[in-house]
Amino acid sequence: MKHLKKTDLEIYKLIQEEEKRQQNTLQMIPSENTASKAVEEAMGSVFGNKYGEGYPEKRYYQGNKVIDKLESMVIERAKKVYGVPAANVQALSGSPANFAVYTALLSPGDTLMGLSLASGGHLTHGAAFNASSRYFRAVNYDTDKNGMIDYEEVRKIAKKEKPKIIIASTTAYARILDWKKFAEIAEEVGAYLMADISHISGLIVGEVYPSPVDYAHVITTTTHKSLRGPRAALILSTEKGLKKDPDLAKKIDKAIIPGIQGGPHFNNIAAIGVALKEASTAKYKKYAQQVIANAKTLAQELQKYDFKLVTGGTDSHLLLVDLRNKGLMGNTVAEALDAVGIVLNRNGVPQDPNPPFFPSGIRMGTPGITSRKLEEKEMKLIAKWIDEVTKAVAETKELLKVTAEEEKKKSVRKNIIEKTKKLKAIKKEVLALCKKFPLPTEY
Ligand SMILES: Cc1ncc(COP(=O)(O)O)c(C=O)c1O
Repeated sequence: MKHLKKTDLEIYKLIQEEEKRQQNTLQMIPSENTASKAVEEAMGSVFGNKYGEGYPEKRYYQGNKVIDKLESMVIERAKKVYGVPAANVQALSGSPANFAVYTALLSPGDTLMGLSLASGGHLTHGAAFNASSRYFRAVNYDTDKNGMIDYEEVRKIAKKEKPKIIIASTTAYARILDWKKFAEIAEEVGAYLMADISHISGLIVGEVYPSPVDYAHVITTTTHKSLRGPRAALILSTEKGLKKDPDLAKKIDKAIIPGIQGGPHFNNIAAIGVALKEASTAKYKKYAQQVIANAKTLAQELQKYDFKLVTGGTDSHLLLVDLRNKGLMGNTVAEALDAVGIVLNRNGVPQDPNPPFFPSGIRMGTPGITSRKLEEKEMKLIAKWIDEVTKAVAETKELLKVTAEEEKKKSVRKNIIEKTKKLKAIKKEVLALCKKFPLPTEY
């Protein structure tokens, strides 16, 4: 980064600082990953200089010779990797991709139906305050008391509310989504089935999680989570979707531009292409298998330490832990783990008695640490550290006689963490592991 260093030392230093942070901590936020340097180089390339509103051979600007080749190539790669007849590669990220689908298929005021935010749905699946519920009529379904999707409940709500789109997707579900059941329900009420596979995209490409391609009409996915690409998104139309609506792919293209976006980010489109190439290898399949093997081991180990896993375990890359038996809020545990270099997030649990800002759980995932080549042996260590940190912090909380209400104050939690002397030694151990497994540069 010699040019950046010369031009803007402040930004250069922040990048160095962030790289060091990523290097010296374990990325266990399930939606994060480490993209290869090849993806990074494509993202930082001269493609970022080019305007090209429109689509290959149909643009408003001149100078499209190379970007037309690029976009066509990346579309073909996406079609091949996911096994679909049409792909749009221009959505700037997951949220605009979802909004583009709604714009394509709904009129303002029409009904869409997705998993509630409290049960692990994404904001864009019809949460209050999100555009998906401001411009459309959003109805939600929830997970049951065990955190499982109750398909009979989904059917009942769908029959009553008659949504035009049913969204099958979550951000905090450790189990396999039953695409077939969702498809049957959508069929019964004449709705489009949209599968937002953002979290599990890489697992589907790696063939360790069932694909919704035969069941959904349209699929959206971010490309920066398990897929390990740039921050961007894809919108895929399936055979089934084109059968229901032969204009589906055209409607989606139009919803992106002129509907909700302007010029495509060709640097990101180039990087999506690189990520798709990287994900098309046998090595990537092994990676996807290891992501799940690691999550399962981590789940078993945490259960040995009496951590309560929502749904009792995991079939995917993700674990949701209910901390209520540990006497601590999600915030405190997530912040204490961050202090030792284990980075994950606080999260609500099914029918959480506590509000979303102070939830009762934590959520973690294995895509990032598996990219670093950590395996079962290291999962056991991580589970041990999570247990040690949780225990030590709970002891300090008790010693300081901090009430649940006081724990909501950031300064109080900071004090508990600072007073927990044991964390220093664990931080050292985490750092040693990070040094042993450096951030990868290629896959
Ligand atoms: C299922 C799902 N859909 C959509 C999104 C939104 O993606 P972005 O943050 O790129 O807008 C996310 C992000 O976490 C997600 O988990």
